[in-house]
Amino acid sequence: MTARWELVQGDLTQVKADAIVNAANSALSGGGGVDGAIHRAAGPELLAECRPLGRCPFGEARITRGYRLPAAHVIHAVGPVWQGGTHDEDAVLAACYRNVFVLMEQHGLRTVAFPSISTGAYGFPIERAARIALKEILAALERLPSLQRVTVVLHSERDLKVYQRALES
Ligand code: APR
Repeated sequence: MTARWELVQGDLTQVKADAIVNAANSALSGGGGVDGAIHRAAGPELLAECRPLGRCPFGEARITRGYRLPAAHVIHAVGPVWQGGTHDEDAVLAACYRNVFVLMEQHGLRTVAFPSISTGAYGFPIERAARIALKEILAALERLPSLQRVTVVLHSERDLKVYQRALES
């Protein structure tokens, strides 16, 4: 049986899947990093669909269409801003991943690709984030037979290596 998950280096906006996950902000207003890249590639219709959704609290997620992206949907997840680890950042990050899988199930989606949520502008230490992300992804694969494929797309070789090491430990 082929593995139902993979870690790859690349550009999330190029991934064909039922959904890609955006590392969004609470306003769902677009921004820099992967958020900016997704909005640029999807086109202005994405922001137009986000606007009426209102604010999305930290740890929660919202779903939209993918427009000009190869992915059919975008699931916008709002990760925690790192504040030294004393503000429930671990739990909020885990909740992001779990809430993405809730939406996948509700919408009958089978394939999804994630970026490394919160480890860019939001400053979450990537080694710690990788352990949380992989734990939640592996748990979801166990729990949800409908999930066909979960991909984590790391932007740099360095980040890919961090995730590979987290998997081994
Ligand atoms: N494909 C995959 N990963 C990418 C891409 C891309 N095209 N572009 C950036 N990344 C990676 C970054 O290298 C980083 O490891 O995504 C990871 C998450 O970084 P950010 O995009 O900065 O996301 P985050 O730390 O969650 O901060 C979110 O940044 O852009 C704003 O609106 C966004 O305010 C929100 C905040």
